[in-house]
Amino acid sequence: MDSHTAAAVDPAALRALEPDDRDAVRAFLRQRWNSATIQLDGRAIDAAALPGFLARDAGGIAALATLLDESEHCEIVTLDAVRPRAGLGSALVERAAQRARALGLRRLLARTTNDNLDALRFYQRRGFRLHRLVPGAIDLEREADPTIALIGRHGIPLRDEISLVRELD
Ligand SMILES: CC(C)(COP(=O)(O)OP(=O)(O)OC[C@H]1O[C@@H](n2cnc3c(N)ncnc32)[C@H](O)[C@@H]1OP(=O)(O)O)[C@@H](O)C(=O)NCCC(=O)NCCS
Repeated sequence: MDSHTAAAVDPAALRALEPDDRDAVRAFLRQRWNSATIQLDGRAIDAAALPGFLARDAGGIAALATLLDESEHCEIVTLDAVRPRAGLGSALVERAAQRARALGLRRLLARTTNDNLDALRFYQRRGFRLHRLVPGAIDLEREADPTIALIGRHGIPLRDEISLVRELD
């Protein structure tokens, strides 16, 4: 059992990340993704240093999105809800979209891996369209980091990266 057994967090409790959150964000990302350093097209991004949104509960961070602003789009670098299906993932995506619009950015981008069928479903039901497939992207990352699993979710070989894009009006 994890420590997130208290009542569900209200999605309205999401707030922007603040400098004091960084250590907790780094520890959370290490726990969820093994590392706070995320590879984006060969660039090593320190996700714990990025802007974003979180919700906390008694057990710590309950949901987190980290965001990277580019010239025309904002990328969701990480998106996590510890207790799934409580609306926090959707609320994080909407906060990210609002923020990107306010910054004058035109698109919201997300990436996931070929095995993450839940994320593919989640993003497509929230206005994202398939954008780019990079076959073998994870195999390449594994050459540099052999700790990356060979088998992913649902017993699917973990190999490829898929990007999705949501146009912002
Ligand atoms: C993908 C992820 C961020 C989604 O977050 P989430 O908080 O579960 O998302 P939501 O609760 O907003 O929506 C998930 C589903 O639960 C449903 N849901 C939302 N609130 C609900 C509630 N109170 N009761 C029942 N179902 C609910 C939503 O309708 C949605 O279903 P749908 O896809 O049929 O529309 C989360 O599952 C996660 O952390 N996954 C692991 C990490 C990951 O894969 N990240 C993304 C790729 S990098």
